[in-house]
Amino acid sequence: MECKRVACLGAGFVGGPTMAVFASKCPDIHFTVLDIDSSKIDQWNSNNLPIYEPNLYEIIQPVRGQNLFFSTNIIEEIEAADMIFFSLPTPTKKQGLGAGSACDLSYFEQAVRNVATILTKYKGFKIIVEKSTVPVRTAEMVKEILTCNCKELEFSVLSNPEFLAEGSAVNDLLFPNRVLIGGDNMQAITALFMLYAKWVPSDRIITTSLWSSELAKLCSNAMLAQRVSSINSISALCEKVGADVEDVARVLTKDERIGSKFLQTSIGFGGSCFKKDILCLVYLCENVGLSEVAEYWRQVIVMNEFQTNRYCRVISKMLVNLKMKNIAIFGFAYKKNTSDTRESPSAYVCNSLLQEEAILHIFDPKVTRQQMLAEMNFHEFLDGISSEKHLISHSDPYVAVKNTCAIVVLTEWDIFKNLNYESMYAEMQKPAFIFDGRNVLNHKALKRVGFKVVAIGKSE
Ligand code: UGA
Repeated sequence: MECKRVACLGAGFVGGPTMAVFASKCPDIHFTVLDIDSSKIDQWNSNNLPIYEPNLYEIIQPVRGQNLFFSTNIIEEIEAADMIFFSLPTPTKKQGLGAGSACDLSYFEQAVRNVATILTKYKGFKIIVEKSTVPVRTAEMVKEILTCNCKELEFSVLSNPEFLAEGSAVNDLLFPNRVLIGGDNMQAITALFMLYAKWVPSDRIITTSLWSSELAKLCSNAMLAQRVSSINSISALCEKVGADVEDVARVLTKDERIGSKFLQTSIGFGGSCFKKDILCLVYLCENVGLSEVAEYWRQVIVMNEFQTNRYCRVISKMLVNLKMKNIAIFGFAYKKNTSDTRESPSAYVCNSLLQEEAILHIFDPKVTRQQMLAEMNFHEFLDGISSEKHLISHSDPYVAVKNTCAIVVLTEWDIFKNLNYESMYAEMQKPAFIFDGRNVLNHKALKRVGFKVVAIGKSE
């Protein structure tokens, strides 16, 4: 079957960029990104996009209004589409059965039910694509809802998980290392395959069963997170035995079997996916009676929390007492090149310092104060704390460091590497500390300036 019109439910970090790249590569196909949140759609239609992502505007601008549209007109677009993507959030459940580990499928299911309502009387064929990261066998639920509610609808469900990483989304979409399509209907698989084949070499497009595809996405994130936790666990050991984690990582990465990616030590991984997806995997393992397997993967999260807490303890210990001390925080996003703060380890570190009554002066090149407060409030970190007095945000890093006793680097933004630390040092209280939670700065040069430098995984 030929696909002429595509609709995507969910105008978030995945739906927006993915459809933008599709539209730029498939000029003959009409793409519409749909959302019930009209303010979000207005932003996608403006020059001020709702997310910061390098080169996203450049990709969107030439195709928007041509073959890429952002709309709240869900009924009309779902009726007209040949292919419907579901790109809704699937966060961790907060209450009820599986709270704290199972996936909350309520947004996803609601969207499927809405589509079923729209298509109740529809006669014809539609391809349904799961783009969201979902628990294994979610496609079964989708099939059931559609079969029960849409008597004359012919459809096929595909799993097409997204592998883009925030901060490099456009590049990842333009040059994916693989595209995964899971399904049981060759006609539908071929239709989606043909869309990607417009720019992705066909040997990079993997087809599998639905269940392998759904599971592979969870495993992919779990394996990446496991590498970060592995190197972070080694960083703790390095500090105890006088080794340097960067030397160790350098040796490891020379072995092609190990590879070089995801071995950068840090204060812990963050973002909306790693923890959520591992928890989902853990829950799945527990449900099928594989408690040892569940425990193995749970340990990746335990290690991540240990790393963040460990670093907080190091800061508190080195500064002796934090009460009313001014501390500069560099970076609030969970990684560089994104404005996303979800599950950012920065929020956890800030919380720990606030508990000690420190006064934080935060600088992040892309995160607004409103977002910082929202993330802190989401975790209830500001309960009983005056954010006016204790959480101050700055748009200039040189202003942020004035009269502080320490700079704590929590995100690996490139801009932090090229600041004039000599002039910062002059404006700070002495002794002046730098806690480099990402090991991105030139420690030797900072020590020459006079800073006391505390890195991760290094004993001096
Ligand atoms: C991750 C995966 O990399 C994507 O393939 C996947 O599509 C995505 O989740 C998703 O499921 O949506 P993302 O969370 O955007 O992407 O970012 P990553 O680059 O994977 O980084 C995750 C966290 O790990 C960040 O906090 C980052 O700073 C940290 N990290 C990463 C390290 O601490 N060390 C490293 O060596 C690499």
